[in-house]
Amino acid sequence: MAVAPRYYIRTFGCQMNVRDSEIMAGELEQMGYRPASGDAEADLVVVNTCAVRGSAEDHAFGYIGNLKAMKQERPGLTVAFAGCMAQEPGTIAWLRRHAPHVDVVFGTHNLHELPALLERAAGSREMVVDVWEASEEVQSNLPSRRAGGASAFVNIIYGCDKFCTYCIVPFTRGREQSRPVADIVAEVEALAAQGYQDVTLLGQNVNSYGHDLEPTADLADLLAALEPIDGIRWLRYLTSHPKDFSQKLIDTIAAGSKVTRHVHLPVQAGSSAVLKKMNRKYTREQYLDLVERVRRAIPDAVLTTDIIVGFPGETEDEFAETLSLVEQVRYDTAFTFIYSPRAGTPAARWEGRNPVPEMAKKDRLNRLMALQYRISLEKNQAWVGRRDVVLVEGVSKKDPTVWAARSGTNKVVLLPREPGLDLQHRFVPVRIAGARTFFLTAVRTGDPLSPPLPERGRLAPAPVPLALSL
Ligand code: SAH
Ligand code: SF4
Ligand code: F3S
Repeated sequence: MAVAPRYYIRTFGCQMNVRDSEIMAGELEQMGYRPASGDAEADLVVVNTCAVRGSAEDHAFGYIGNLKAMKQERPGLTVAFAGCMAQEPGTIAWLRRHAPHVDVVFGTHNLHELPALLERAAGSREMVVDVWEASEEVQSNLPSRRAGGASAFVNIIYGCDKFCTYCIVPFTRGREQSRPVADIVAEVEALAAQGYQDVTLLGQNVNSYGHDLEPTADLADLLAALEPIDGIRWLRYLTSHPKDFSQKLIDTIAAGSKVTRHVHLPVQAGSSAVLKKMNRKYTREQYLDLVERVRRAIPDAVLTTDIIVGFPGETEDEFAETLSLVEQVRYDTAFTFIYSPRAGTPAARWEGRNPVPEMAKKDRLNRLMALQYRISLEKNQAWVGRRDVVLVEGVSKKDPTVWAARSGTNKVVLLPREPGLDLQHRFVPVRIAGARTFFLTAVRTGDPLSPPLPERGRLAPAPVPLALSL
């Protein structure tokens, strides 16, 4: 009997790419491939790329460079290039010139074509390129091999129509397209039946969900439809845009018992003038009013955000407004980025005329991070002594004597391992014992709330080679 070929998928970027990689894995396994533990053992390597910032692209180009040497040693290796970078106009020309060892290029809209493309590549000496127009419909309900555990990602809306002036995503992911409520409910019911208990709903802009459905629906309706599904403990969603975060959604989250108390509200900048140039469609005041309303309705909400510094033309005074907003909101965590010009976006043209000097960009990032780290530590310290429920993700990579778990508020929580007690992928009641800037420590206060995971046959926890790095 022939030995099954083995695949390895290297994933860069956001959770949507992680989910796409699970779908690619499902397709490959249907074709007869088996997972390899690393690229050194693989017959096929798929590089699932991210284009959101220059640094993400550099990582992917670097990895493609490594594969060149690997392919020289093992000429039978097939290399596939996928994801958001494949959708950018310049990438294919770059690959043809600098990376002829790439065999297949496909985009974010034609994952379902992967088997056919691999077959074409097997009979061809040329690079097989098939990137669909971003206006094409995304095919949902494809087979997939989930990364395992108790947590699952579920796509609810593809694409983004917001066109923030700095952002490449509307070009790489195309127009918004919602999945029908019934499809999502069926998928979550099937997940619950397989023992998944933590579901994260995915979209670049989850709160514009449903405007394109017939009849229309919204995220609040969807959450209300998912609440009653037995077996699901946590419902989460990523990412929400402040403009569309409606009062109805706030009230639905407040009334529900499964939607976790984590509200990620990317602000991007504290100055209304900068927000206008970013085309974010809200002012500083409107954002602060939203934060007020969220905190009033959901007093235990943990707020997190994304911030860009050094947007073209951002003045020192405008940056000071970002600092003052961070002081005022007091986020638990902020993901902070230096503005990275993306070809074809309006802001990239402005960057050519009126950039913030590199030194100032770095200095602003450092000041913002120092402020946020102080606040993160203070916020975490306030948790000491409180009780919570955490989901254990696995043994800590840094310290094998502790479990790494996550709270519903998305904080990393470390708790001691005990001989003879396997807590992997289980919900555990804890008391928070200590606080650092990036994590909490805790002790177990009772029996796990969920049993060990059921066997899922081939879909079970054998580690899927998904490496996530932004
Ligand atoms: N759809 C999500 C975010 C997607 S990208 C949203 O709108 O919130 C994740 C984050 O990357 C963004 O929130 C933004 O802070 C950052 N980002 C996007 N484009 C960027 C760019 N060109 N330079 C630097 N950071 C960027
Ligand atoms: Fe990009 Fe803005 Fe869409 Fe988010 S909402 S993906 S930042 S264009
Ligand atoms: Fe995600 Fe990066 Fe694409 S953030 S949508 S993988 S550009």
